[in-house]
Amino acid sequence: MHAVSAYLLGLARDHEPVVERADGGVALHSDEGAHPEHGAYPRPTAPDDAPPVQDHGVVTAPRPKSRCRASTSGYIYSSYRLLVLAWSAVRLVESAMSTYRAWRPPPIEWQLDNDEIHIWRVALQAPSASVLDKMSSTLASDEIDRVKHLRLQRDRERFIVARGILRILLGRYLGCVPQALHFTYNMYGKPSLDNAACRSPLSFNLSHAGGLALVAVTQHRALGVDIEPIRDDLALGQIADHFFSQAEQVSLRALPPTQQIEAFFKVWTRKEAYIKARGEGLSLALDSFDVSVVPGASAALLETRDDPAHAGRWTLEDLWPTPRYVAALAYEGRGCRINCWQWRWS
Ligand SMILES: CC(C)(COP(=O)(O)OP(=O)(O)OC[C@H]1O[C@@H](n2cnc3c(N)ncnc32)[C@H](O)[C@@H]1OP(=O)(O)O)[C@@H](O)C(=O)NCCC(=O)NCCS
Repeated sequence: MHAVSAYLLGLARDHEPVVERADGGVALHSDEGAHPEHGAYPRPTAPDDAPPVQDHGVVTAPRPKSRCRASTSGYIYSSYRLLVLAWSAVRLVESAMSTYRAWRPPPIEWQLDNDEIHIWRVALQAPSASVLDKMSSTLASDEIDRVKHLRLQRDRERFIVARGILRILLGRYLGCVPQALHFTYNMYGKPSLDNAACRSPLSFNLSHAGGLALVAVTQHRALGVDIEPIRDDLALGQIADHFFSQAEQVSLRALPPTQQIEAFFKVWTRKEAYIKARGEGLSLALDSFDVSVVPGASAALLETRDDPAHAGRWTLEDLWPTPRYVAALAYEGRGCRINCWQWRWS
């Protein structure tokens, strides 16, 4: 709520719950949820459906210049302005609350209902070498092979932490030790729990960017998650022309330049989350479906040309990992409750 009130008061500044370090890693400084209204994105304009400011005759009608009338009309005008302001504030809080999800500390009871999705935000840095060793010892031999093929120590550490925490999380939901889990991969590389080894309704997906990862967990439904850092040093127009659908390119170009960067990364993560949820990799053509583009509009899968039924079958949601990252979630079905948790080492 702090971020929302700050925005309403026009006091929002570059508040950073995550600090990016010189070595490219990130340190999470607070459990408070991140939101674009903390200042990294252009501020939203007034809601389109704000009530028009009407001429009530108070200002324009000829009237005697008595002090009493002047103060009465002034009072009415101020009250009216206050009402409009209050109304706008309510609308802003409503829209912020619909997308704002705090990254809370882990729950005491790890309960995951059928219509629930848990998203875990994880800083990919082990607190000590011994913790890293311990995590490494939980990985399977194919995962250790992948570690060995990574050139940079930083990337090796991030991979171990991401896979290690994925195992700890899934193990906690299933009531087993991390090393007992077996992953299997579909032909496009999407990992899932090996049902031959453990019968589990859990499905999950992982995304990492820089030093930050998101792990999405649910049951009985497919899902995909994607996180990307917001960058302004890329030829975004060219990338959009190459990867986005015709409709998405047109909508993106129609936006004011100040909104295009945020919109680009929203589209990117929404598309990637959907592809990851389907698990078919890039065999699913990126221009075969359209996602919503306009900032402020809800994330949505608008059209799926490979099979029109897919558009109604999947839900897209934006997530706010930190002010410098955007993320999206795609899941099968509708109306799931989404809870966001911040991973803690202790
Ligand atoms: C394989 C792919 C999922 C890579 O995605 P990415 O954005 O590079 O990486 P992410 O961090 O989000 O996801 C990688 C994780 O997803 C999981 N994953 C791998 N293949 C997957 C697949 N086919 N479907 C779903 N999840 C997959 C794995 O857990 C992987 O991490 P790990 O192997 O380290 O455990 C795939 O979608 C891809 O190659 N995309 C190309 C990117 C692109 O051109 N995007 C255009 C968007 S407009």
